[in-house]
Amino acid sequence: MRTLALALLACFVPLTHASEAVVERFNYVMADEQRREQASLAGQERAVFCSYCHGETGNSKRKHIPNLAGQNPRYLFHAFEKFASGERTDFVMSKLAQNLSMEERVNIAVFFSQQKVNPPEGATDAALRNTGEKIFQTTCTGCHGAHAEGMETMPRLAGQPDEYIRKALTRFRENDPSRAGSVMIGVAAQLSATDVEALAAYLSQLKLTPAEEMANINRLRNVTAAAQ
Ligand code: HEC
Ligand code: HEC
Repeated sequence: MRTLALALLACFVPLTHASEAVVERFNYVMADEQRREQASLAGQERAVFCSYCHGETGNSKRKHIPNLAGQNPRYLFHAFEKFASGERTDFVMSKLAQNLSMEERVNIAVFFSQQKVNPPEGATDAALRNTGEKIFQTTCTGCHGAHAEGMETMPRLAGQPDEYIRKALTRFRENDPSRAGSVMIGVAAQLSATDVEALAAYLSQLKLTPAEEMANINRLRNVTAAAQ
């Protein structure tokens, strides 16, 4: 038992430190406009490879791939750490995350968190969207925010491709090992397959106005800096 506890500590302590250092570095960069712009440029350069899948401005090129634009930087850091530690797994991302330095994680997160999400294309069934909205408003806003814009460490969901939302929720529902240990497993266990369809229809079509998009980008700057 004691050996196990020590082994667990050995796994978690460096991760927590890495996470604190990365947030500290991020706050330092965000607090100054010039540092922010330099980091964003460096992030954009490093993200050229990412853009094949996530798009040049973090607006995904494929329906099963998430947007990174307008995403909460703390959530991005968590995702990198989970992919790197093996807690979350994906064929491509698990390898990529292990190869990103702290500086690169910060620069990439600065760049993507400051990009606008493109308005969604196409339209989904209105009745399905309404059902999704009802479920979202009663069950999900406490963590993901009233407009699914995300919170402190919670991801933004507004405007994510429907296929990605469906895939993520289905994995949580089925307790798939690729996203083990997530708080979402308990939440999604309460959802039916029809609920998942309705939520994917609603969230993928949920758009913020250009002014709200700008406000969100500014919020991400300030929330993270204030939370130090
Ligand atoms: C070959 C395609 C591909 C490339 C290249 C790629 N990604 Fe991904 N990325 C994915 C897929 C697919 C997922 C969704 C994995 C899942 O379902 O859990 C993902 C997920 C992510 C997530 C989690 C987002 C969320 O909403 O949970 C982050 C963060 C991320 N990628 C960052 C990056 C960065 C940074 C790069 C470049 C260094 C990159 N990706 C390159 C395909 C790719
Ligand atoms: C107790 C807080 C909490 C509640 C309530 C909650 N979520 Fe989440 N959700 C999270 C957290 C934390 C994550 C990130 C999990 C991770 O990285 O494994 C997340 C992740 C997600 C993701 C994956 C995002 C991505 O980019 O990969 C989806 C989709 C999602 N939630 C949908 C929902 C829906 C729909 C509801 C309501 C039915 C809901 N959540 C309720 C905390 C919550």
